[in-house]
Amino acid sequence: MFNSLKAQAPDKILALMGQYRADPRPEKVDLGVGVYKNADGLTPVMRAIKTAEKQLWEAETSKSYTALAGEPAFHAAMAEMVLGADYPADRLACLATVGGTGACRQAFELARMANPDMTVWVSNPTWPNHLSILAFMKQEYKLYRYFDNDARAVAFDTMMEDLQAVKAGDVVLLHGCCHNPTGANLTLEQWGAVADLLEAKGAVPMIDLAYQGFGDGLEDDAAGTRLIASRLPEVMIAASCSKNFGIYRERTGCLMVLSDAASKDVTQGTLAYLNRQNYSFAPDHGARLVTMVLTDATLKADWMAELEEVRNGMLGLREQLAAELRQLSNSDRFDFLARHRGMFSRLGASPEAVEKMRVDNAIYMVGDSRLNIAGLNTKTVPLLARAIIDAGV
Ligand SMILES: Cc1ncc(COP(=O)(O)O)c(C=O)c1O
Repeated sequence: MFNSLKAQAPDKILALMGQYRADPRPEKVDLGVGVYKNADGLTPVMRAIKTAEKQLWEAETSKSYTALAGEPAFHAAMAEMVLGADYPADRLACLATVGGTGACRQAFELARMANPDMTVWVSNPTWPNHLSILAFMKQEYKLYRYFDNDARAVAFDTMMEDLQAVKAGDVVLLHGCCHNPTGANLTLEQWGAVADLLEAKGAVPMIDLAYQGFGDGLEDDAAGTRLIASRLPEVMIAASCSKNFGIYRERTGCLMVLSDAASKDVTQGTLAYLNRQNYSFAPDHGARLVTMVLTDATLKADWMAELEEVRNGMLGLREQLAAELRQLSNSDRFDFLARHRGMFSRLGASPEAVEKMRVDNAIYMVGDSRLNIAGLNTKTVPLLARAIIDAGV
């Protein structure tokens, strides 16, 4: 029967990684895959995580199953990090998931169980996995325009125009911060306007929060999510620990669902049911490390300090790149790079220009001209700036 299978198109970003690995040029620069890298091109284990791992190795006496929905201590630590210390525990159901991707998948499943007729509204562009998961689930989705390609900024009026068509019970997927792939984010005022609109429509916001701490800081990056959570009766939040704790391969994420207090227990039970049907228990190791880091004052302070180093490093590279390009182009048309936040920016280059940079300069970025700022260092920034100008961007 397996000869009936059709070949799946390879994941474009993973294919690019393979191409990069095969390139013999020593000066090659990888701005493709969405992984944080330091100035030496490494993705280190964060200090607090390493310490927590040592402590856990000493203290852990069993690897028996945990709770199906994950440990309550993990839920509480994540809820506090994302929603703040005064989060509404009486309305909040939580699920440990297989990374942020698992949280997104379970959120779509939950929403579909609650309302089989819903449409999911997704920003155009978005993280490609959102669309491929929805397509795989045969879940109807619609795109709302998000990015102004000329200004390299959020096309807010157009976005709001498109969201006028949202119906009661639809799910509207928003990136909590550090929009992937564009790097362009809503202001707090715009989050307020989105909250007004979704409230009026009776739609359910779903916030994908994969980069908390990578943009403007842990608190500021959660501000939009917190505003939505304080205003809307029903909210889903898919939080990933992959980037901000640097534990990509541990597959750690958390789905949080706000409902009315009377529905909380059934929602919580349904979340556990979804884990059971899909993979039973989510991985525990990363969730346990995150809980340890967030609940131990010393570990937490060290983690926050290192996260700030990571964030400020990326901001410095953004500013350096914008300054180089200002000089080379004799214009401010690349200043958006310093305004964008997170690991990614969409450069707005044509596929031909992206290919030219790969062929001529061994610079690898995704075909839609998304570049990973963390793939740069102070020495490669001038090379990229030169290549951008030479490619006629
Ligand atoms: C927008 C967005 N959401 C979710 C994720 C999920 O990441 P993970 O499943 O590795 O936690 C990512 C990772 O690249 C992402 O960019």
